[in-house]
This record gives sequence, C-alpha cells and structure tokens, in this order.
Amino acid sequence: MSAFDGPSRSSTSTILRALRSISDLSPFSYPKSIASVALIIYEALRESNANKLDAERLSTRVMEVAWTLSSSLADAGTSPSGDLARSVGQLLRALEGIANRIRRQSSRCITTRFLRITKNSGDVRLLEEDLERSISLFQFQTRLANINLSKRLMGTEDDLDGQVESLLEASRQEKKEMFTNSPLPLKDISPKIVSASKQVLPPPPQVFFGRTSYVDRVVEQVTRDAQSRVAILGAGGMGKTSVALAAIHDSRVVSIYQSRRHFIACESVSDASCLISSLLESFDITTPSDFETLVSFLSRQTSRTLLVLDNLETPWESPANRQEVEYVLETLSDIPGISLLITMRGAERPSSVVWSRPFLPQLPCLDPQSSKEAFTAISGTSEDDDDLPTLLEALDHVPLAVTLMANLAQYSSCAALLARWGEEKTTMLTRGLEDRLSNLDISIQVSLSSERLKGAPQAFSALQTLSQFPDGASRKELESAMSPSTNIHAAVSALLQVALIQYDSSDRLRVRLRVLSPIREHVKMYFPLDNC
Ligand SMILES: Nc1ncnc2c1ncn2[C@@H]1O[C@H](COP(=O)(O)OP(=O)(O)OP(=O)(O)O)[C@@H](O)[C@H]1O
Ligand SMILES: [Mg+2]
Repeated sequence: MSAFDGPSRSSTSTILRALRSISDLSPFSYPKSIASVALIIYEALRESNANKLDAERLSTRVMEVAWTLSSSLADAGTSPSGDLARSVGQLLRALEGIANRIRRQSSRCITTRFLRITKNSGDVRLLEEDLERSISLFQFQTRLANINLSKRLMGTEDDLDGQVESLLEASRQEKKEMFTNSPLPLKDISPKIVSASKQVLPPPPQVFFGRTSYVDRVVEQVTRDAQSRVAILGAGGMGKTSVALAAIHDSRVVSIYQSRRHFIACESVSDASCLISSLLESFDITTPSDFETLVSFLSRQTSRTLLVLDNLETPWESPANRQEVEYVLETLSDIPGISLLITMRGAERPSSVVWSRPFLPQLPCLDPQSSKEAFTAISGTSEDDDDLPTLLEALDHVPLAVTLMANLAQYSSCAALLARWGEEKTTMLTRGLEDRLSNLDISIQVSLSSERLKGAPQAFSALQTLSQFPDGASRKELESAMSPSTNIHAAVSALLQVALIQYDSSDRLRVRLRVLSPIREHVKMYFPLDNC
C-alpha cells in the first residue's frame, strides 16, 4: 500500500487528474510549472518509503495549493503580470525547492539514507513549514486582490493551522537556542556518532567549454592559502556551479583536499538552520545535530577541508535569514584549515567573511567559440552551419540558454530554431522538466522573484524599461525614459546586485547598462511595458 491510500483517496485522484491536465495542456508557463512541480513532489513522495501520514499530509497540501493556484491562473486565461507574477514565481520556487530536496535524497539513494530522512517526521515537517511560510508570504504579498484565491487558500489552511503554528513555534524556539548559545570558544563536546563522510561528490561537468582561465583562478585561490574563501558570482544559468565542479575535480585541488571536498547544494536550503542540517548531513553527523557539534567536529580536522556551498543565495538573500546565515559563514571561515568556495546568483558577497583577494570577477557569458563548441557537442550540428553564429548571438552565449537550444537542435535546423526564437523567445527553451536547469523561464523567474529586489520597488520597472534597449542604455538614457520620480540609483543597484543587468563596456567611450538577451526577451514577453 502506498503512502497515499486512505480516506482522501478520491479527492486526491480528482486533483491529480486536474493537475495532470493543466501540466499537459495549459498554454501558460506559470500554471503549467506549478502543476508539474506538484506532480513531481507527489511522485517522489509516493515512491519513497516515507512515513505514510507525514507524506500524505505534505503531498495533499502541496496538491491543494498547486491546484488552487494553477487552476485559478489557468482560468484567468492570461499570464500574471507585475507583483502577482513575482509572488507566484516565489511560491513556485518554494515548491521547486521542496521537490529538489525530496529528489536529492532519493537520487542519492541510498535507500537507507532516504529512509532515515523521510521517515523522520521532523524532516517532512520542515518541508511543510517551508511550504506554509511561503504560502503566508504569498498571501501577504499579493493580498490576492487580482484573483479570488484568498478564501480558497485560507479554507485549505484551517485544519493545519494549529499544527503548523505549534511547529513554527517549536522551530523558532530551536533556532533561538541555536543562535543564543555562545558560539566560541567551543565546549568540548564529542559528537556521539561521527563517521567519515559518506557523501558522494557530484561529477565534473561532462559538456564544458571555455572557462580555462576562470577555473584556473578558482583553483589557484582554493589551493594557495591554508584557509581560502572564494566566491563565484554571476547571473542565473551562467555556469557558476559548473565552474565550481570543474575546479574541485581539478587534480591540484584533489591532491590537497582529497576526500575532504564537500559539496552542499543550497538551492533548496531555506535558512541558517537548514544550512546547518545540510552540513551536518554532509559529514554524516547525526547526533547531537547542532551547530556547535559541527564546529567542534570541523575544528578537530587535522587536514585541509573544502566546503562548497552551491547556490548560497537561496538561504542568504532573505533579510530575515541573512544575519544568521552570515553568522554561520563567519564561524566556518574562522576555523583553521577550513576553506570555503561558494557560488551565488548576483554580484554581492556575504559581508561577514574576509574573501580571498583578488576577488574573482562575475562569471561572464561564454566566448563565441566555446559557445559554438558546447552547442555542437550537444546537438551534433556542424560548426559550419551559417545560421549558428546568429542563433548563439541571439542567446548572448548564456550557457543555460545555449545548452537548452542545443537540445532542440538535435532534431531541428538552426534556421528553424532561429525562426522559432523570433516567435516564441524563451518559452521554447524547456526540456520538459520544470526546474531551473531544464526551463529557461523558470531560471529567470527565480531571479525575478529574488527577495533582494523587494527593497527597491522601482527596480522592476527599470528592468522593463532597460529591456527595450537591446544594446543597453546609459544611466542618463534610462533616467530620461522613466518617470521623473524614479530613484534610478536604487533601482539600478538592486538590479546589478542580483545580476539581472550588467555593465557593458564593449564600447569604451560609452559604458552602458544592459540586460542579457534571454532575460530581456522574457521580460518583454511576460511583462510588456504597456500592460503595466
Ligand atoms: N562552460 C560550459 N560549457 C558548456 N555548458 C555549460 C558550461 N557552463 C555551464 N553549462 C551548462 O549550462 C547550464 C547552467 O549551468 P550551471 O548550473 O553551472 O549554471 P549556474 O550559474 O550555476 O545556474 P544557477 O544560477 O541557476 O545556479 C547547465 O546545463 C550546464 O551544463
Ligand atoms: Mg548553480
């Protein structure tokens, strides 16, 4: 019997059917993505040996929320725009995070590990807490003025309210204790079960072109000092994770750190306590599972250890979590022999760490030759195809866009793809799965729903305006294209911070602000200026 047999079986199957049809048939990206990710969560939990009641509760809640939202958005018959789209994007990202956490555990597989995690109600409940927090945030942000979702979401919430409230309280209490404990000097606690790490490092990227000097710089910084603190920054889908993986598999890094290279995927890590749990898990420390134990354990290491915190922006970027996450980073970076390598979307490093110098520049787009090599390696297209340079240029050589386009080129010519790009833009770049590495729109939505944009309410309209300038615009040009009351300075810095725009200095006489083509086309298609 699966975790889903039970009293709510018939309503579950109705919602399932509805979600499948939205996922298969909706012409709109948001409802489709929400329905798909809910189905992924459902399947992942069903195939697991999770504690049945916990799994059923989580899965039912995910499906209810996804169905309410996706069916209402699909009924609205148009893509949401402005604030609503950003809020939906954020909720989608939370669902995606939950799916990834379940899938990550399951794919490690490592049956025993998965059983241990999902059978533990606390872990499923952490996922539930994340979900409920995201729903509250969504309700708060949108007040659901545009579409009548409020009551429907509230209705499904009633039965879980008390339960969620007490869980949240417990978690708040736990967090408070964790952070009020004097961090250092450490008590001499010996973890009860501490074994050598059993984690498996993700492999180096299989298709990987260009980046030689960038990877060299990462390797040089990570190997040079006994304690390195290196940050790889840049726009979404630019290849930050790939560069980090290439670097940590480089023989110079391997010879120093050997099996003490730990890769922690943070894209679904919501806050400091989840980050600590992931780190503890990576070292297979099971009890006592608190930060002090982790720090104590790391302090006892006699050989250099490398911690890779990939996509650290997820737990860090929310102002509510930032201080705690920075505290964790600062403490880790103070431990002798521990090196940090982080990747983050954006242009800003967490401020609590003394980063190795010189700072690495933001990861740029691929050079045209490497972009061509990556494309032909995946698609089998001839390098001499006349339309190929134009096609790659249209994508600004952004690796994620190049990779997704190359997948389509396995059965379409470059000329046909160029014609489709003219019509469909970023919507064509999906590989069926609805996550940020398989779907360009989702990857861009992740950046658009960044918490960091919230502090600058005019940033989004600055992005819309700048997207009208394919070759970029100077600040002055942007200023004159926007309403006089706009605080251009704040809007531009917020957009630079999250790497949704960048400086283009290809014309030495005129430094411009520019939006990369995939982001530009996404913004023009989903958030056209005249609709706002
Ligand atoms: N140098 C490269 N050559 C070929 N393909 C690449 C290269 N770099 C990245 N890619 C491909 O581009 C896609 C995005 O890469 P990656 O996940 O490393 O980007 P990212 O910057 O970490 O994205 P995110 O901001 O979502 O975390 C992946 O499919 C990856 O295989
Ligand atoms: Mg990444």
